Amino acid sequence: MKKILEKKQLSADVFRMKIEAPLIAEERQAGQFLIIQIDQNYGERIPLTIANANAEEGFVEIIFQAVGATTQKLSRLNVGDFIENVLGPLGQPTHIEKKDGPVVCVGGGIGVAPMHPIVEAHHKAGNKVITIMGARNKELLIMEDEMRALSDELIICTDDGSYGRKDLVTVPLKELCESENPPSEVFAIGPPIMMKFCAETTRPFAVPTMVSLNTIMVDGTGMCGGCRVSIGNETKFVCVDGPEFDGHLVDFDNMMLRQKAYKKHEAHRCNLDVEAEKLEAKQK
Ligand SMILES: Cc1cc2nc3c(=O)[nH]c(=O)nc-3n(C[C@H](O)[C@H](O)[C@H](O)COP(=O)(O)OP(=O)(O)OC[C@H]3O[C@@H](n4cnc5c(N)ncnc54)[C@H](O)[C@@H]3O)c2cc1C
Ligand code: FES
Repeated sequence: MKKILEKKQLSADVFRMKIEAPLIAEERQAGQFLIIQIDQNYGERIPLTIANANAEEGFVEIIFQAVGATTQKLSRLNVGDFIENVLGPLGQPTHIEKKDGPVVCVGGGIGVAPMHPIVEAHHKAGNKVITIMGARNKELLIMEDEMRALSDELIICTDDGSYGRKDLVTVPLKELCESENPPSEVFAIGPPIMMKFCAETTRPFAVPTMVSLNTIMVDGTGMCGGCRVSIGNETKFVCVDGPEFDGHLVDFDNMMLRQKAYKKHEAHRCNLDVEAEKLEAKQK
């Protein structure tokens, strides 16, 4: 049982929670995630990135979008309530090293939350970090101040032009690839369609591009096969081999097809899917 220490609503359906978890806070590294189970009675297990952690104060932070049954239930819990099971840290940590050129971190929508610890780690490693943040509109942008504080340059894009540039994130990404000082490495986290097009943008420039895959997960141990993906024609499990992979090798079309597997069982439309379809339509 883990206690909720703080709760804040960041936008219409995005919430930030501090959870008491001293052992996880001590161990966690950038790129790792938790599997959370709210209910005692075999409730759904959902993966959420460790957006932040404080080992001295013994807490981890999650930032999540209330898209379906479990995340909506989680959003209704309050300070002082308990979460039944919090498992972690899981997954391979992000590989961070000193780079000669800039590292470009692209976060789309809620993808900005899992990007935060990666930006922080590159900043600490002394890399020049250029962050590109994208959202449908100004109201949906999260963590602008935190990202600005850690980035040498921050580029904001909105679909409707209500804030920053009226562009998809791939437009400034392409400009950076074409510049005199192109990225040494690109990280992209967001809806699968956004990560796919970020990888397609950097491919002609041969800029190494990592993506963090948000597949459906069940056990988080590599046993159930729920999170399997095809990477360079090899089967990998996001929970144990990932969540980060070489974006140029990911079979995004297969991944997106598998993510829709449970769609007919859902009584509502997923916001991530709606956003992804809009982005896909714009790219065509
Ligand atoms: C490693 C990892 C880290 C993640 N980190 C975060 C995070 O920091 N913040 C955050 O908000 N989300 C994150 N996600 C996504 C999050 O796990 C899903 O949004 C959540 O499982 C949805 O559960 P639900 O019961 O609320 O929705 P459901 O009722 O299960 O589903 C609602 C809709 O979302 C779709 N869906 C279900 N699970 C996923 C999934 N894992 N990815 C994409 N679509 C899904 C369903 O097809 C359905 O249409 C992460 C996923 C992974 C794999
Ligand atoms: S979640 Fe079961 S194999 Fe990854």
